[in-house]
Amino acid sequence: MDFIHRPRRLRRSDAVRRMCRETRVSPDALIYPIFIDEALTGVRPIESLPGQNHYGLDSVCQAVEECLAHGVGRCILFGLPREKDACGSSAWAQRGVIQEAIRIIKVKYPDFYVITDVCLCEYTSHGHCGLLDGQEVDNDKTLELLAKTALSHAAAGADMVAPSDMMDGRVAAIRAALDGAGLQNIPIMAYSAKYASAFYGPFRAAAGSAPAFGDRRGYQMDPHNRREALRECELDIREGADILMVKPALSYLDVIRECRDRFDLPLCAYSVSGEYAMIKAAARAGLVDEHRVMCESALSVFRAGADMLITYYAKELADAIRRGDIG
Ligand code: PBG
Repeated sequence: MDFIHRPRRLRRSDAVRRMCRETRVSPDALIYPIFIDEALTGVRPIESLPGQNHYGLDSVCQAVEECLAHGVGRCILFGLPREKDACGSSAWAQRGVIQEAIRIIKVKYPDFYVITDVCLCEYTSHGHCGLLDGQEVDNDKTLELLAKTALSHAAAGADMVAPSDMMDGRVAAIRAALDGAGLQNIPIMAYSAKYASAFYGPFRAAAGSAPAFGDRRGYQMDPHNRREALRECELDIREGADILMVKPALSYLDVIRECRDRFDLPLCAYSVSGEYAMIKAAARAGLVDEHRVMCESALSVFRAGADMLITYYAKELADAIRRGDIG
């Protein structure tokens, strides 16, 4: 009897399919963005991000408890300060909104992992990510302010700092400031390949951080470029970054894959506000199945090579993983 071996696919039971999954995801790889508004009491829904909230300092623990209830143990904090000025001084204020939020969280939930976004755009009156010299951001003068901001976050108890400003040399400046203060163990997650993207729209409405004039193309990356992302990552690695990030996620899966193949540092992807808002809007219009599109989108980012994901869907994804819909 002849044995004819035909190439074939595994087409078996759910048990086999789940055993043979090539991509594994875990709630441990999910990071949830939390917006804290210094001027707010209680919780207020964010209009541009349906399903997301602004939390007052009195409600920070509620935000944490909501994460923990879904098995999400990590967050990244964004602050809306009461006062803004030309240099963004409330970003590094001893009693600034983020510094206070960290202290409040750490008293009650010391094990909840707190990453802070380090940038000036939410704190400057003009909405740019650094100090202005005329209409241009002054890269080098901004470095000192970013370092002060990162240091103040870490001193307040942040577990990790994540500079998102895209100034050249910021990782080195922040590393030196942290080391100088005896905070050698605070890692830096660098927004290394951050593109000048239209997908940040809903975030800027939520954080009040849209630039008052011009745009961020002077310091964020051109979406045409892939090799430039690799150069940015290389620089950040040399300066002491502990984790690299690609942002946005869905339109930059090729960049994620390239960074994964090229570098051996842990790699984070940020599925940004516009990605979330698009799924929400399409689902609300009855055009797509929100749960399935959410799962498939997240999966694509991990399949592309990300080790962790910042996402507004973190809580729902953790539930999906627990149910076995992905994972
Ligand atoms: C701050 C910052 C931005 C985002 C994260 N950190 C906005 C920007 O660069 O304008 C965007 C996140 C999102 O869209 O979800 N610089």
